[in-house]
Amino acid sequence: MGRKLLLEHINVPGINTFDVYRSKGGYASVEKALKMTPEEIVEEVKKSGLRGRGGAGFPTGMKWSFLAKPEGVPRYLVCNGDESEPGTFKDRYLMTHIPHLLIEGMIVSSFALGANTSYIYLRGEMMPQVRILERAIAEAKAKGFLGKNILGTGYDLELYVQPGGGAYICGEETALLESLEGKRGNPRIKPPFPAIAGLYGCPTVVNNVESIAAVVPIINEGGDEYAKIGIGRSTGTKLISAGGNLKKPGVYEIELGLPVEEFIYSDEYCGGIANGKRLKAVVAGGSSVPILPANLILKTINNEARLMSYESLSDGGFVSGTMLGSGGFIAYDEDACIVRNTWNFARFYHHESCGQCSPCREGTGWMEKVLHRLEYGHGKMSDMDLLVDVSKKIEGNTICPLGDAAAWPVASAIRHFRDEFEWHVTNASEATSRNYGLAHY
Ligand code: NAI
Ligand code: SF4
Repeated sequence: MGRKLLLEHINVPGINTFDVYRSKGGYASVEKALKMTPEEIVEEVKKSGLRGRGGAGFPTGMKWSFLAKPEGVPRYLVCNGDESEPGTFKDRYLMTHIPHLLIEGMIVSSFALGANTSYIYLRGEMMPQVRILERAIAEAKAKGFLGKNILGTGYDLELYVQPGGGAYICGEETALLESLEGKRGNPRIKPPFPAIAGLYGCPTVVNNVESIAAVVPIINEGGDEYAKIGIGRSTGTKLISAGGNLKKPGVYEIELGLPVEEFIYSDEYCGGIANGKRLKAVVAGGSSVPILPANLILKTINNEARLMSYESLSDGGFVSGTMLGSGGFIAYDEDACIVRNTWNFARFYHHESCGQCSPCREGTGWMEKVLHRLEYGHGKMSDMDLLVDVSKKIEGNTICPLGDAAAWPVASAIRHFRDEFEWHVTNASEATSRNYGLAHY
């Protein structure tokens, strides 16, 4: 059994209430942290090797140490709970079932960063979670863990929950800050990074829900202990949202470094592919990362199995960066239509593009149209090269990563499943009749 640092008590009845959470050792990290200096806390987080759990995998301790500290200027901690990445639902799960873990992490992290006002920004559709968190915040405040003079230490912290309007782009940290300021959620050009000029132009750290929750076990057990879990630069545990054609979809906490094959097939996790089918492909980190065919995700590299880690899930250098992403693990069985899935993702990105940059605004729409005609039996053999060309024109040429996120799934699907796209052209009438009656816009 892998270690559970975040979800250990998730099934305890009443764990969403302060008293039950406290009876399981909750808020101990606040008591410990408030006796430490902020610098000591940052040091523990650095030692832990914790990397951002929202998708980018940027080292959290390093991000914290970049925070500017000009005299007389407030600093903010903003928790990014906008979780909108298709296939990703682990933050919502954590906030729904164990909200005090996030609040505990927010208190410790805010103290470490010198923030006296902090925000949890949630996507607009998460109104039940807004209410859950607001109730938990009120409970923590009533017990002296929030508000003025926390536990008599002289440290003040006000924590607010702010729902957005339901736009995917508001999960991008600078769009989130714009939205939090009451403006349209358009991403800003970086640099400056929020650590220098964030909310209201002040130094701000934006961290994902799971990253902030992970600070609790790091402070309780120490950064060195946390770093012993995992593999290489992928330390600790990670929440994975498992979906698609799996026998047991759901949210799992894994130790980083778990073999992918074990995650898919063992009964401790997903229990294999549903209905006895074979695995065809996997998107390992939410819709923003390339799709990998089964033979590539299950095969060994240099005689080592593919692992659930930031380093092991590469696509042979096709794109740089981590394929573990937000941990949105989608499995496709042998019957899944890759063309339809790719069109579906493209439709999503086209709809969610904020429209600021021409390559993203025009390119996502163009890709969606071409994929639509392919899926509905009106495609041409030249469409695949056209799609790759458009995706290349978007990649790296936009203000925010939504452009790359839209381009990669299309390019990787064609790279690995070109024969399936070609089938849609050579068997156009079958493709059309197969889709007859399926919902489309
Ligand atoms: P990024 O790599 O640009 O930045 C990561 C973090 O490090 C940011 O907070 C940034 O401010 C900070 N940072 C980087 N360099 C810095 C520097 N020199 N000084 C100070 N701070 C610095 O990636 P980004 O745009 O934050 O996230 C992209 C990822 O988000 C994608 O890989 C995707 O997987 C994920 N994503 C997750 C979603 C979800 O629902 N969880 C939705 C959409 C995307
Ligand atoms: Fe907006 Fe797309 Fe440009 Fe991001 S890449 S700023 S979503 S137009």
